Amino acid sequence: MKIAVVGTGYVGLVTGTCLAETGNEVICVDINEEKVKAMQNGVLPIYEPGLEQLFHRNIKQERLHFTKDLAEAIKEAQVIFLALPTPPGGDGSADLSFVLGAAKDIAKLITDYKVIVTKSTVPVGTADKVTAVFKENTSVEFAVVSNPEFLREGVAVEDFMKPDRVVIGTTDVRARDILGELYGPYVRQGNPILFMDERSSELTKYAANSFLATKITFMNEVANMCELVGANVDMVRAGIGADARIGKRFLFPGVGYGGSCFPKDVQAMAKSAKEYGYDFKILDSVMDVNETQKKKLVKKVLEYFKDGIEGKKFAIWGLAFKPETDDIREAPALYIIDELIKHGASVVAYDPEGMPNVQRLLGDKITYAPDRYAALDGADALLIVTEWSVFRTPDFNYVKEKLKNNVIFDGRNLYDLDKMTKAGFYYSSIGRKTIA
Ligand code: UDX
Repeated sequence: MKIAVVGTGYVGLVTGTCLAETGNEVICVDINEEKVKAMQNGVLPIYEPGLEQLFHRNIKQERLHFTKDLAEAIKEAQVIFLALPTPPGGDGSADLSFVLGAAKDIAKLITDYKVIVTKSTVPVGTADKVTAVFKENTSVEFAVVSNPEFLREGVAVEDFMKPDRVVIGTTDVRARDILGELYGPYVRQGNPILFMDERSSELTKYAANSFLATKITFMNEVANMCELVGANVDMVRAGIGADARIGKRFLFPGVGYGGSCFPKDVQAMAKSAKEYGYDFKILDSVMDVNETQKKKLVKKVLEYFKDGIEGKKFAIWGLAFKPETDDIREAPALYIIDELIKHGASVVAYDPEGMPNVQRLLGDKITYAPDRYAALDGADALLIVTEWSVFRTPDFNYVKEKLKNNVIFDGRNLYDLDKMTKAGFYYSSIGRKTIA
């Protein structure tokens, strides 16, 4: 099939590359000329495990192309994916100007039936808005489809190639058949393609992300309670996760959820509900609790250093919002750094992939270490913020040698409590007793 993908951000690039991988001819279009040139020269602008290999292979085999010319991109395409940003506007609702702007440009260019697919996470009713823009600007036949993307950063290729489900929201039978055929190769293992109307599909995406954010937040509150009553959240997690109705996954308490999706989508869903006159109370609580949770580690630091932290130096392991990505959007580490600096402390950080992005944002407000141990040199304590594998089994004797005080605040519960007792650390984690 001939496919155009408009927008070469994270979702657009993964979508374009993975669609080419199953034999489709894909052309990706972006307004950023420099980025297009780089991609034409085989430079992948994002870090995502496994993507690079597919990207190069499909460019080499001439199934994956890049252009900044929208007309060229959509000319022969049967299906046009819109993978454009929907950033939160000033009031928290998703800003649709990129999506509707592209829809208008495309509508003016098409000369035969096209399936227009919105991949971006958008509020309920967006497919209708896109349809209206097309109707105003063309008399050619078209179908607008909502096809939300559920991929996770760090495992995006795997998620795209073997999705738990594919959701296709359209009432247009022709579009339904075309997309059913396009996605067929990805659900061979028997996972479903769920066909539904546009609005249900749009709401599915918000509901999925908001539910997951709520699940994490619930566990963060359980962890906070564990600390107060003297329970261990690892045990409670195992105890409740064994119930198939609850499930084992996404029950890990930590420093609050971050990233480019959960914070934005929970906010947008709450806002969208209010626009329809519904007060989705649980989502307001989720956002509220998450804000507090992001500061949890600093609260523990301030409780430990009773005389304040002015002039103290803290090592931070992990800046990206989660492992296996260089993405720092809404990363809890940024809030933690901000709080530490506000209290007069200095920060030395190490992250396997996230440092260049933080450097662009914070410059020399903090120091960047060349490796995990170098970050510890003379630090008053270590704070663990992202659970990169490389942080899981450090040489604790060496850690002690490097740190000024044997103090670790672990926001991701990486270490066994008995082991930390034997190793002789002050060790404070989330929802478990503090080793003092
Ligand atoms: C998420 C959804 O999982 C994905 O389906 C959607 O398409 C986009 O948003 P992503 O943002 O890549 O994906 O990250 P995810 O792995 O879901 O983690 C989100 C946040 O939740 C991270 O900050 C992570 O640290 C946190 N988290 C996750 C927890 O704190 N505990 C958990 O148990 C799981």
